[in-house]
Amino acid sequence: MPEPLKNAEPPPPRAQIREVPPPAAPAPAAIPGFEPRIIAFCCQYCAYSAADMAGSMRLQYPPNVEIVLVPCTGRFDVILALKALEGGADGVYAAGCLEGSCHFLDGNIRARKRVAYLKKELEAAGLDPRRVEMYNLSASQGPRFAEIAREFSGRIAELGPGPASGRSRGWRPGGGPLPGNRGFLRARADGSPGFP
Ligand code: FES
Repeated sequence: MPEPLKNAEPPPPRAQIREVPPPAAPAPAAIPGFEPRIIAFCCQYCAYSAADMAGSMRLQYPPNVEIVLVPCTGRFDVILALKALEGGADGVYAAGCLEGSCHFLDGNIRARKRVAYLKKELEAAGLDPRRVEMYNLSASQGPRFAEIAREFSGRIAELGPGPASGRSRGWRPGGGPLPGNRGFLRARADGSPGFP
């Protein structure tokens, strides 16, 4: 039987052993030269007014954010977002009034639910759910509008081109096949249940 080592320290009690958290994954670097194309569905009352204010305050925000004016984010739906992504957008967001301030009562709440649903559907289709987002802001938040546009544009620049974007083939390392999301819209646009 081996003799116990002299001066050997007893092992620490279990309570003292702390788990070392795994290192955080490094943020992907933005692809040099890639200019994401972003579609922002903005409600005419708050988000669009905030965009207007950002313009009149001469605040800088990326010119690749294309604004689509909608009467309310309640008009934003899953099909619109998917059509934008399939049509070449790399990211899509809806920007509406602050919760409780929607001029159509709950349009922004419904939009938030649709965005949450869309994120799940994108994930299920193998796409990054961060390509869609929902923001709320008031008409007087011009600086916030510019900040959102910069933030989202930066996020999409890191993610790279949208897999359904026409530019994806050129950007995809090795030019591999596109994920099978081409039929994604068709598969669910024909009245299949589940759209909130
Ligand atoms: S009117 Fe702005 S979100 Fe409904």
